[in-house]
Amino acid sequence: MIDGNTLLFGIVGDPVGHSLSPLMHNANIESLGLNYAYVPFHVKKENIQNLISGAKALNIQGLNVTIPHKIEVIKYLDEIDSLAENIGAVNTIKFTDGIAKGYNTDAIGAMTALKEKTDIKNKNVLVLGAGGASRAISYALCEEDVNSITILNRHINKAEALADDISSKTDYTVSYDLQSNSNKYLKDTDIIINTTPNGMYPHVDDKPLIYAQEMNSDMAVFDIVYTPLETGILKEAKKIGATRISGIKMFLYQGVESFKIWTGIDANSKVMEDVILKASGIDDIGEF
Ligand SMILES: NC(=O)c1ccc[n+]([C@@H]2O[C@H](COP(=O)([O-])OP(=O)(O)OC[C@H]3O[C@@H](n4cnc5c(N)ncnc54)[C@H](OP(=O)(O)O)[C@@H]3O)[C@@H](O)[C@H]2O)c1
Repeated sequence: MIDGNTLLFGIVGDPVGHSLSPLMHNANIESLGLNYAYVPFHVKKENIQNLISGAKALNIQGLNVTIPHKIEVIKYLDEIDSLAENIGAVNTIKFTDGIAKGYNTDAIGAMTALKEKTDIKNKNVLVLGAGGASRAISYALCEEDVNSITILNRHINKAEALADDISSKTDYTVSYDLQSNSNKYLKDTDIIINTTPNGMYPHVDDKPLIYAQEMNSDMAVFDIVYTPLETGILKEAKKIGATRISGIKMFLYQGVESFKIWTGIDANSKVMEDVILKASGIDDIGEF
């Protein structure tokens, strides 16, 4: 119950009403018996500047930041974690003694989801897509000692810009190509990560970007889209017996990591997972 000592956390976005984060974080807070509350804040672009000073004034402890503010918010922060700085996007802010520090837990959430199911050290990774999520994941892969990273996109200029940016800031030389040339890379690929919205509800009948016959059973296939839980590319991966990873785990673990950053406390990930599955209408997460 909220009282005079309740500490406040929240999420800012535009829109924000669809977000599962309030449900997920409040279930965790309740299960741990903490006097915290997590609320949604619908913040328009023109108010981003006031957001940080307003949050400090209200003694808010931590915020998640979602679309479309993940990049814009950076210029109003006092400090930024080095991974978030390289990625150029922040989804978590911690307030400590009037200092606002930004982090990117989307990247960490994706790595946790991946490493839960497969070893990633020295692996060859094919990343489909070159947008914001690809950027976060591709940078995070550079911190994981993978062997190689190749970014494929339907517009090659975007893949080239991202690959060049990462190559200039890290020890990796990231390759890039057109999505339509995926066949050239699949023989040597250990892990496929789909970061495009291909197959996302309501476009569930989109042709998958990679088919079963182009995969092999030793591969791991990670789709960061989780509506539906079993996307087209994951159906293809099942046909060949490849390891499959759902984007719902990435969403879960970004929340777990944000909570740890804010409070230093390990979140109750089971409770968080149960509540997001229930809200998504999923009865059984199966192998995911
Ligand atoms: N699981 C999670 O926690 C989580 C977190 C973040 C994002 N996501 C999901 O990840 C997806 C991408 O998000 P984002 O922020 O990276 O988006 P974004 O910045 O708009 O980038 C989308 C990328 O996908 C490509 N693309 C778009 N539609 C495509 C299609 N039908 N076929 C092939 N390529 C396509 C785009 O290619 P072009 O450059 O050629 O246009 C672009 O490279 C969304 O579905 C989002 O919901 C999930």
